[in-house]
Amino acid sequence: MSNTVVVGTQWGDEGKGKIVDLLTAGADLVVRFQGGNNAGHTLVVGGRQYIFHIIPSGILYKNKKCIIGNGVVVDPEVLLKEMEDLKKAEIDVDPGRVSLSDRAHLIMPYHRALDLAREAKKGKNKIGTTGRGIGPCYEDKIKRTGIRAIDLTEPDILEEKISSNLKEKNFYLHEFLGAETLEMQPILDKYLDMGEKLSPFITDVSVELDRALKADKKILFEGAQGTQLDVDHGTYPFVTSSNPVAGAACAGAGIGPNQLHHVLGIVKAYTTRVGAGLFVTELEEETGDFIQEKGKEFGATTGRKRRCGWLDLVAVRDAVRLNGLSSIGITKLDVLTGLKTLKICVGYELEGQVIYQRPASLRQFSKCVPVYKEMPGWQEDITQVRDADRLPVRAMEYLEAISEITGVPISIISVGPGREETIIIKDIL
Ligand code: GDP
Ligand code: IMO
Ligand code: MG
Repeated sequence: MSNTVVVGTQWGDEGKGKIVDLLTAGADLVVRFQGGNNAGHTLVVGGRQYIFHIIPSGILYKNKKCIIGNGVVVDPEVLLKEMEDLKKAEIDVDPGRVSLSDRAHLIMPYHRALDLAREAKKGKNKIGTTGRGIGPCYEDKIKRTGIRAIDLTEPDILEEKISSNLKEKNFYLHEFLGAETLEMQPILDKYLDMGEKLSPFITDVSVELDRALKADKKILFEGAQGTQLDVDHGTYPFVTSSNPVAGAACAGAGIGPNQLHHVLGIVKAYTTRVGAGLFVTELEEETGDFIQEKGKEFGATTGRKRRCGWLDLVAVRDAVRLNGLSSIGITKLDVLTGLKTLKICVGYELEGQVIYQRPASLRQFSKCVPVYKEMPGWQEDITQVRDADRLPVRAMEYLEAISEITGVPISIISVGPGREETIIIKDIL
């Protein structure tokens, strides 16, 4: 039995959704453990595209349980809309298929308002958040004033909590941020209504997972965002407000570390980033445009153009250490086809010295210049390849360099967005 955590090793959008969908075939349950609807996970199955923001990417398989853990911040409106859309596509989303942790914190309208007003006030110094209220919701959780899924089932407590929160938020919104205030009653009515719809799904997820583990079920944990966006280990403050690293699967789902057996790090064959923040290997000229266009690098949540650059193995090596990666899944290798020369960043030059880890200081990081290893590219179409032995020699050399420099074996290679456009090297489940 092998329970696996799938995490992003870069700045998100590595293709976690596609890989989680693929691996779900061999799992019994799929669990989200952090983040919220800042995530956008795209799956292409049978030629049809699905984008999930909050529902785990295992939902397309019948008889697999999808779980939203306590570490996730949930916008109930987005969750219900996603459920509705799935029903329209004739995909089953009854409580037998989806569970929502009673301890998951809820994104409220004032969280979204605060996120947007704060970013507007910051102007050019903004983080470039998704504007979904993620940060403000996690702040309330840590501040111990958050509203949890269970509160939807206790109307008097919900009313009291919304009321006391709104007093504080409205003051802050109006006095400090110069934004519109919000009214209590419409929020309460809406959340009570949504609570009625969601209450059959609300359960103690930790207990449910414990039961599954005792019955020898296989669990797949689906990370959102990526290691470089981790609030502790990422490029702070240009990060998200949760811990996308593998260790967070335990706290965010309510299981012990001894239940995790494999950590799969998803590495896009190049680097992308949405939002602001330093990006050492960013390409602003022709090659960047080539990758952006060929890779269709637009944010799945906000539609923003993703910034593109060469593969940064300093970042990936940090992710190897921070997540304890067991193996790597390489995605979007097909996008690099056609480039004459490829570059891999193997170190940073900082004040005349080569360093191999990202410094904590943003000032120091801003002075880092990439040290590249150059490799010849390949021209052959690889989207039909299903066996690693049939990849062009130069593609194999590129993959071998990644594995050698990171010290981690590659278990999966993705050569297209479709479920079938995949080369499996090692069956990790
Ligand atoms: P996630 O947030 O990590 O799940 O990644 P996103 O879904 O936001 O972004 C990855 C994008 O690349 C999606 O549009 C996928 O359909 C697409 N994709 C995934 N793997 C591959 C691949 O190997 N090749 C190509 N061309 N596209 C891929
Ligand atoms: P998936 O799961 C890429 C980025 C935002 C912004 C920063 C903070 O699809 O990989 P937030 O709204 O979280 O406060 O924004 O984090 N960000 C992502 N970038 N993929 C994601 O998720 C992201 N989720 C948040 O662009 O820079
Ligand atoms: Mg995404």
